[in-house]
Amino acid sequence: MKYRTIGTAPESRREVSVLALGAMLFGSRTDEKTSFAILDRYVEAGGNFIDTSDNYAFWVDGGQGGQSEELLGRWRRSRGVGDEIVIATKLGARPLAPGTSYIDNPEGLSAKVIRESAERSRERLGVDKLDLLYAHIDDPTVPQRETVEGFAELVAEGTVGLLGVSNQAMWRVERARAIAAAAGLPGYEVLQYAHSHLRPRLDVPDDMFPDGSLGHAGPELLGYLRAEPALTLVAYSPLLRGAYTHPDRLPADFDHPGTPPRLAALHEVARETGATVNQVVLAWQSGGELPIIPLAGGSSVAQLEENLAGADLELTADQRARLDAAH
Ligand SMILES: NC(=O)c1ccc[n+]([C@@H]2O[C@H](COP(=O)([O-])OP(=O)(O)OC[C@H]3O[C@@H](n4cnc5c(N)ncnc54)[C@H](OP(=O)(O)O)[C@@H]3O)[C@@H](O)[C@H]2O)c1
Repeated sequence: MKYRTIGTAPESRREVSVLALGAMLFGSRTDEKTSFAILDRYVEAGGNFIDTSDNYAFWVDGGQGGQSEELLGRWRRSRGVGDEIVIATKLGARPLAPGTSYIDNPEGLSAKVIRESAERSRERLGVDKLDLLYAHIDDPTVPQRETVEGFAELVAEGTVGLLGVSNQAMWRVERARAIAAAAGLPGYEVLQYAHSHLRPRLDVPDDMFPDGSLGHAGPELLGYLRAEPALTLVAYSPLLRGAYTHPDRLPADFDHPGTPPRLAALHEVARETGATVNQVVLAWQSGGELPIIPLAGGSSVAQLEENLAGADLELTADQRARLDAAH
């Protein structure tokens, strides 16, 4: 396993494995025994960067979420896990009532929610300090200064280590970071966005984003990463939720002329290396010049084994150049 530093301040930065593990469906769709087996194997292989959220997985049972954090809390206790494992969680997108969602009824990013939801997450996880806490989605109803100060207070109190942000427009991320920097407060250092080798159309509106998707890492985000060495991209859904293995799962926004040449390049490199397409994607993301950490889910130890080997796969400069150039 290889490692990468997230964050910059000596007191909060962490060395994390270049493959992060998504625990989104642990404790709901993935049963406890399987989830524990995946977590144990991930740690045994040197993995130390696990991702969850206060709202996972509310859509499975129509509740408000929390099953994933609770399962991780039970796993931590039963294994005696301490500081060596970095558990990232998120707040802001928990539905305020059962039967609703983050689209129509999110908790949002007020100072009160930040304080109270972080406290609940610490309880469910059984930790004194959240290693990395993300704003899960934007909240345009709250002044950004309030959100920035709300997160900074928790860092100052020592109940949160690093701050991150997910699914927000880049201008909002930059504005929040500028507010924090001007006030001498800690700002977002980890960006969590959807990113894989295949690229979606970004102009397709949905319920959350009427002007087109903000959840995908597009050119603005990649340029921002290049310009700001303090930032890391944690790439969610790197395996397109299984679509490289099950092409019928490929979402409609990937149906465009750029997809076949990218897929062809992936298959060519997979043939050359003897690896699977999933492994080539993870190797391409984690071994490139930009600081990208793929955050893969999985519902079995066998899938995890494949993904672990992907993070260890070394691509040649020529293979990488062909993967980069395909469009
Ligand atoms: N910030 C956000 O808004 C956001 C959004 C989504 C996800 N996330 C985070 O990102 C993590 C990963 O997201 P994801 O589950 O959408 O992404 P993913 O890693 O692209 O997809 C995971 C799914 O792909 C399939 N899979 C995984 N490894 C495989 C393998 N080696 N071979 C074949 N199929 C494989 C499995 O599907 P089957 O189980 O059907 O076999 C698995 O459940 C989540 O757990 C969560 O922590 C964050």
